Amino acid sequence: MAQTDRPPSPAESSSAAWTARDEAVVWHPFTQHTTWAGDEPTVVASAEGPWLTDVDGRRLLDGVSSLWTTTVGHCHPRVNEEVKRQLDTLDHATFLGSTHRPGIELSEMLVERAPRSAERSLEKVFYAGDGSSAVEVALKMAYQFSAQSGRARPDFVRLQHAYHGDTLGAVSVGGHDLFHSTYKPLLLTTVGAASPGDRANGPDRVAHAEADLERIMAERGEDVCAIIVEPLMQGAAGMFDYDASYLRTARRLADEHGALLIFDEVATGIGRTGSMWAANRAGVVPDMLTLGKGVTAGYLPLSAVLTSQRVYDAFLARPGDTGPRTFFHGHTYTANPICCAAAIANLKVMEEEGVLDQAAALGERLGGLLDGFAGDDRVAEVRRVGTMTGVEVADQGPRTGFDVCQAAREHGVWLRPLGNTVILMPPLNLGVSETELMIEALAKGLDDVFGGR
Ligand SMILES: Cc1ncc(COP(=O)(O)O)c(C=O)c1O
Repeated sequence: MAQTDRPPSPAESSSAAWTARDEAVVWHPFTQHTTWAGDEPTVVASAEGPWLTDVDGRRLLDGVSSLWTTTVGHCHPRVNEEVKRQLDTLDHATFLGSTHRPGIELSEMLVERAPRSAERSLEKVFYAGDGSSAVEVALKMAYQFSAQSGRARPDFVRLQHAYHGDTLGAVSVGGHDLFHSTYKPLLLTTVGAASPGDRANGPDRVAHAEADLERIMAERGEDVCAIIVEPLMQGAAGMFDYDASYLRTARRLADEHGALLIFDEVATGIGRTGSMWAANRAGVVPDMLTLGKGVTAGYLPLSAVLTSQRVYDAFLARPGDTGPRTFFHGHTYTANPICCAAAIANLKVMEEEGVLDQAAALGERLGGLLDGFAGDDRVAEVRRVGTMTGVEVADQGPRTGFDVCQAAREHGVWLRPLGNTVILMPPLNLGVSETELMIEALAKGLDDVFGGR
């Protein structure tokens, strides 16, 4: 169907018509297109608060915050206003050789809000575009830091089941076979450590993972430039939560062996765990922290790496240097002012409206409602840190978490699984009745797919 100037007829603007046009020209991420149209994709027309509305006028609760990004709700009036104001002021100016107010102000706000302890703080902000590119920045920075601090250390320690994004560096430190195994020949060499969240390692999984990390660092710690983890929750693994003691062990071992500790808070950051950062919940401060997703309230792509002053200082030229210490990395849209304006507005709204408290309360509410599934043989396990929740569907033959999500849509809630785990990660300020609706839709979805209890 060619584009014309006349408004589309109702039939032309129906979900079915848009899906057909989509299928003709679009290649979607993480999508098997043989089955895409059969899966009846939602054609989203507009959004407000926690609600998505499709082109047929059907309202669906956004149960996954549009891939874990929406914080204060869709199209929040304050964020809209600030983004529009920025549009009329400055669209873009390169951060290579120039700077601007939104970039500076956002950096100040992020540093002010960064995790800190008596010994450690994060003082500098390096921007990138999305979570994966922030991880690339952190990896390159960590390697170069080692080279400029005495000796180049080529190894990264990563966790099994980790997910840090889809660019090749990020895939190299990932440990998700389904997503990553195809690209193995292309990847950096890394050292895989046992995951503290992996249920396959039994009830002592955290102690097992700590011992494994201890062994790896004893054997090759001198070559390790950084240990990278998703703190407290391995999200894309299917919400594998784990105890903060693992992070304390990782902190100690990184220090003992002169390696950096990187917390990838692309998913866990900006309130998702009920605190601003998982690092706060754990009481452990990393040397680098990557953030993305919710930083712009889910409006625009922006990510960043926060680093300690020590890391930054290793990149400053000194007398007698034989080569430049410059970090040769940057993206065309680094610190785009409109993205920064959205992020500033998001952080302000979160503070003014007490969104962190709301997120903490939402987490508790979700936990309370999900207690209703205790003893339900259709549910293998509920895993949750703050608002980040995974409901693993018990293995029941061919019908899976995916079918449960599809069924939940019929009950007004948009959900998406990871493997056999239904993910619930609503906007941080979701109200009481909407939270109940979400859990009800999940329960009805389970009934529809597996039959009632
Ligand atoms: C922990 C973590 N790191 C990095 C990424 C990649 O972010 P992006 O999809 O914005 O590249 C994700 C995405 O889910 C993530 O969960």
